[in-house]
Amino acid sequence: MDTLAVLTSGGDAPGMNAALRSVVRTALYRGKKIYGVYRGYSGLLDDDMVPMQSSSVSGIILRGGTVLKTAQCKAFFEEENQKKAVEILRNRGIEGLIVIGGDGSIQGAEKLSALGMPTVTLPGTIDNDMHGTDETIGHDTAVNAVVSAVSRIRDTASAHNRAAIVEVMGRFAGNIALDAGIACGAEYILVPEVPFSREKLARSLKKQMEAGRTNSIIICAEGADDGRALGDWLKERTSIDICTTILGFIQRGGQPTARDGMLGSLLGAAAVEALLQGETGALVGMHRGQVQVLSYAEAKKVKEPFRKDLYDLAVMLGAAQKDGDIRETGLE
Ligand code: ADP
Ligand code: F6P
Repeated sequence: MDTLAVLTSGGDAPGMNAALRSVVRTALYRGKKIYGVYRGYSGLLDDDMVPMQSSSVSGIILRGGTVLKTAQCKAFFEEENQKKAVEILRNRGIEGLIVIGGDGSIQGAEKLSALGMPTVTLPGTIDNDMHGTDETIGHDTAVNAVVSAVSRIRDTASAHNRAAIVEVMGRFAGNIALDAGIACGAEYILVPEVPFSREKLARSLKKQMEAGRTNSIIICAEGADDGRALGDWLKERTSIDICTTILGFIQRGGQPTARDGMLGSLLGAAAVEALLQGETGALVGMHRGQVQVLSYAEAKKVKEPFRKDLYDLAVMLGAAQKDGDIRETGLE
């Protein structure tokens, strides 16, 4: 295998640039030629790519986003276009592709490997909702952004004796909410994986505030409830002063943490090695501190993307403690 290509796809995540830099430099170190494909699968279908040099990835390791740009590409769901992509890669002499992205991007990569184009993927998404890796590239940075925002929000909430709802990203997954909630000592953490009762939350919150709490942080994953609607409902129900913040894209940009820079660098190099060793249809992830290369089928068996043990820990540590069990099926 002499010529490779790399692309970033789906939602960007801090640390994607570190991964990209690692892929490019490892490939060059191994004496290979490597193309960078712009705008994910859209750019691939447009044959929008350039040969990468070591200098192409200089100065990007500490930058969020992705210098290759990223995109959603509906056309790539069609088999005809997947075949076209393989043809475009082959016309350039490309014999292997590395895809950095989330679950959807990986499904696209799976199609390419099934069509005979060796493809290896790296998990890149802030949501940390993927099998086969303990952590995805970008998650740690997003969690740190939430923790730092909550620290500011708690100051102002406390000054006014308010409860604060902080809605965080994660699409259908609650991992950002859970990890950030534990790290910042949130009183309540709402995640889609554990249905909660608004009524129980209202009762618990009221009891806590009446007992003298000066503030209360409710981290709400976007997949669990609509933060703004929940805030209005709680205000109406409890008469507690509530301030609501939708953190939004602040969580997705910014300088990657050292952990994400490391993760991107380790996994990027391992992806190139895996491809050169003949792997295809495989995810390169990190499990218990070790890089691991798994087929997608194997990856699904390795780890449940949601950590129930962490949720239980969060319930135990929340300041509201036994009054804080707001699970729909929890104790009254
Ligand atoms: P993420 O990779 O962050 O999960 P998406 O789910 O939006 O993001 O997927 C990114 C892109 O991957 C899609 O726009 C599409 O081009 C491609 N893709 C996703 N799912 C599939 C699929 N089942 N088959 C082919 N391509 C897919
Ligand atoms: O998957 C990453 C993510 O940031 C999710 O947390 C969020 O729901 C989604 O992407 C937002 O996607 P878009 O950029 O398409 O609005």
